[in-house]
Amino acid sequence: MSAPRPRVWVSQPLFDDIVGQLAAHCEVEAVSAVSEHAPADVAAALRDADGALVTLNERIGAGELAAAPRLRAIANVGVGYNNLDIAALDARGIIATNTPDVLTETTADLGFALLMAAARRVTESERWLRGGHWRQWSFSTMLGAEIHGRTLGILGMGRIGQGIARRGHHGFGMKVLYHNRSRLPDAVERSVGARYATFDELLAQADHLVLVLPYSAASHHLIDAAALARMKPTATLVNIARGGLVDEPALADALANGRLAAAGLDVYEGEPAVRPELLALRNVVLTPHIGSASLATRRAMVQLAVDNLLAALGLGPDAGRPPTPVTATKTTAARPGATDAAGIATGKTAAGKR
Ligand code: GLV
Repeated sequence: MSAPRPRVWVSQPLFDDIVGQLAAHCEVEAVSAVSEHAPADVAAALRDADGALVTLNERIGAGELAAAPRLRAIANVGVGYNNLDIAALDARGIIATNTPDVLTETTADLGFALLMAAARRVTESERWLRGGHWRQWSFSTMLGAEIHGRTLGILGMGRIGQGIARRGHHGFGMKVLYHNRSRLPDAVERSVGARYATFDELLAQADHLVLVLPYSAASHHLIDAAALARMKPTATLVNIARGGLVDEPALADALANGRLAAAGLDVYEGEPAVRPELLALRNVVLTPHIGSASLATRRAMVQLAVDNLLAALGLGPDAGRPPTPVTATKTTAARPGATDAAGIATGKTAAGKR
């Protein structure tokens, strides 16, 4: 008798043609409408699942895992994975994967777009024009901050940070400073045109500061009132990483009171809710977490997540070798239909690599 096919849960509608590849190997339970899943719904969906394809909106921790005895693999569609409790997954030997690399350049593009829109008041100008104010034009209408040749600060220098640095240095002739847990090798610094700075130097010197670091307990509200006070009042702050990096009331206060010129935000602490204080400001550009949202990139992310999930379940061409694992448990025995994961390797357990 052949082994039963693994059951997988797909938490949101993604691209049907790509997710459909799972059906060649698995029983697929795919949610057909965009859904906000309460923790109890996630737990119920995982109860009989061997694997899951989830987005950043689904939080999976010890509580959800407790009710999921068969679960062996979670493929996150996203590079950040602070929605997953990696320690709890590791403790159960469950493989978790993410989707790095395929979204690097697209997300760096959006970071730069937000920087430019905030510094040059693009969306504010558009609202003004649509509001019929053009007849009030003067020579000092919508004066913004210079971008080319100015100092670009980057906090977090992973793949996306390096993409931002390349754009600033090679495209806009900017002086690029970065701060990161570890310093990049000299050759990488040279190729992206960036110089290491302390956190304080970065805050003090950046004309435009872009946040691209992973979110964790250690980086919670890293940009708080004290950090904002150390920035230039003419500076721009851009956040394309995670909302929890910024103390949003402190940011709104600084923007409202002339202590920071402008901000561009793609991520929010309580998303999809956005604080009314931010919505009320003219000098902040707000986008709904669209960093990786080009068609080609979103498709590539889903494809990588499907490849990861099949491989982590011991299926498909990469059986047992998921391309981009984030748990210490990275491999499975290549046994189609196997119900346990094998091959504990040492490795990173950090929450949320970019
Ligand atoms: C988006 O925020 C991601 O982590 O992919």
